[in-house]
Amino acid sequence: MSGTVYLVGAGPGAADLLTVRAARLLGEAEVVFHDALITEDVLSLASKAEKIPVGKRSGRHATAQRFINKRLADAARGHSVVVRLKGGDPMLFGRAHEEISYLQARGVRVEVVPGVTAALAASAELGVSLTRRGAARTVALVTPRVAAGERGSHWVASVLAADTAAIYMGAGEALAIAAALIEAGKPASTPIALVEDASLPEMRVQYATLEALPRLATAGGPTLILLGEVYREALSEAVATLRRRGQASQRP
Ligand SMILES: C[S@@+](CC[C@H](N)C(=O)[O-])C[C@H]1O[C@@H](n2cnc3c(N)ncnc32)[C@H](O)[C@@H]1O
Repeated sequence: MSGTVYLVGAGPGAADLLTVRAARLLGEAEVVFHDALITEDVLSLASKAEKIPVGKRSGRHATAQRFINKRLADAARGHSVVVRLKGGDPMLFGRAHEEISYLQARGVRVEVVPGVTAALAASAELGVSLTRRGAARTVALVTPRVAAGERGSHWVASVLAADTAAIYMGAGEALAIAAALIEAGKPASTPIALVEDASLPEMRVQYATLEALPRLATAGGPTLILLGEVYREALSEAVATLRRRGQASQRP
């Protein structure tokens, strides 16, 4: 008898953004394999489970992924509820396909439980709709990141074609991202919002233009780049606030 492996979306960090189903499965789980970014608050819901971190060290993704696949299949042989907990939604930039196909090929039952993806959590925090009427009707979720040996993606073309874009795993490559988009024709004045640790108490939000993106600093947490005219108003307000603060600090 083999158990079921549940690929569960842990959401962006705040434990109360988990789905009811995710919380129930964590409570039932005997083993939880989790990503590096999963918060302690979320993990504490798996009160009776053995918790195994399987965060991948960058540059060794392929080997690490094969190892994770095998550990999931092995765990399902001895346990009825195995949870593979992934940040945000498992089906978005989460290597879910590799795990699902490996397990299915070995006759292991797999179920996926969706989670709140970073772009939606960040939008909720900003209070800015990704599809604000009159400004945006299309959204692209992209990443410039490709693993070694994978073919490159058309992320630049997708960002150019969409009204609003959410760029995942891009904060460390801000200079290259801004240069690639501007060179491809995206106006340097396009407003961006840089959202770090969305949904968590330590969240940081910075507004800027695409041209200024490389000058923004992050504190090292997971960071999303949101880009599009829907952020124009928030950018103007942020600039006005900075000016007011600057004038206030110059007053005698
Ligand atoms: C490997 S991807 C996984 C995405 C995840 N499956 C999702 O749906 O959000 C990791 C990237 O997601 C984004 N991210 C995840 N959690 C975030 C958060 N709380 N705040 C901002 N960005 C986040 C960052 O761009 C990070 O580099």
